[in-house]
Amino acid sequence: MSEKQMLSFTHYFPSMYLFYLYSFYYYQFINILKLTTQALIKQHTQRASPEVKKLRILEVKKLRLENKVAIITGSAKGIGREAALLFAEEGAKVVVIDVDEGGSETAEEIKNMGHESLFVKTDVCNKEQVQDMVKKVVERFGKIDVLINNAGIIRDSTLLKMTEEQWDKVIDTNLKGVFNCTQAVAEVMVKQGYGKIINTSSIVALYGNFGQANYAASKAGLIGFTKTLAKELGRKGIRVNAVAPGFVLTDMVRSVPEKVLEMVKEKTPIGRLGQPKDIANVYLFLASDESDYINGAVLSVDGGLTL
Ligand SMILES: NC(=O)c1ccc[n+]([C@@H]2O[C@H](COP(=O)([O-])OP(=O)(O)OC[C@H]3O[C@@H](n4cnc5c(N)ncnc54)[C@H](O)[C@@H]3O)[C@@H](O)[C@H]2O)c1
Repeated sequence: MSEKQMLSFTHYFPSMYLFYLYSFYYYQFINILKLTTQALIKQHTQRASPEVKKLRILEVKKLRLENKVAIITGSAKGIGREAALLFAEEGAKVVVIDVDEGGSETAEEIKNMGHESLFVKTDVCNKEQVQDMVKKVVERFGKIDVLINNAGIIRDSTLLKMTEEQWDKVIDTNLKGVFNCTQAVAEVMVKQGYGKIINTSSIVALYGNFGQANYAASKAGLIGFTKTLAKELGRKGIRVNAVAPGFVLTDMVRSVPEKVLEMVKEKTPIGRLGQPKDIANVYLFLASDESDYINGAVLSVDGGLTL
């Protein structure tokens, strides 16, 4: 080593050594800090009570219908009521629609849960009432994101005994009622460039059912209606889908003899009848942004009964 090299080495060596020492201790310090933080977080998480853990999960859980405005027809009871409560839990402002005053109880229950809700007593068969209702909703909330055409009735009879009144009432409520609500709401949704419409059909529409010619015809009509609107409104940002429930335990099936319900249960691969929540959950999925690529579909929700 030349003298010059020696000088430069002795000149730089202490600072290189210090730099090495500094880097080494800095790295160790960062490592200890990282390990301590991880240990503290782990300890803290393990110590949290189940309630606190649940709250933490809720804090990060995004609500599936946050700030959405949802109209649910026939939500005084049954499937509609269940859906109204579920939608509110998921952040929606729920408009309860029914001919039955019981709708005010659904809306009250939602308010007691700390969410916004509005009951508008409306007969879906009455075009004027429907238009007034839509006007009220827009005045109050400024928009409509979701329409669930859930209101429906049965007036069962075999064809030869079916009265014109039985036929008309079912078609008027289950089919024309859906037309009335959809036309009035779609106008708002087209302007917004966004909307989800869900029509409640039935497995009876797909497979028929003894004594339900009027009901099956109305619910089958809804399937054609759904698919047509899916084509007409798809490019306007609106999704239109239908749900076809199997036998669901609500007032609607209370009149079905116990023996028949037992038979249905036997034939259902999952071994049980439907609960309102089973259908409400599917409404929720179709109303949420998770279903954006689903349009014109008919989802059977029947535990596999029709397989
Ligand atoms: N329960 C089932 O097994 C079953 C199966 C397939 C499809 N569905 C369909 O699911 C929907 C909900 O049925 P559910 O079992 O909850 O029935 P439900 O009888 O318990 O509730 C229906 C609600 O619709 C309301 N309604 C009736 N006519 C109306 C009108 N003209 N205007 C406004 N509201 C009106 C009623 O007052 C009631 O609150 C219906 O469309 C029904 O056809 C039900």
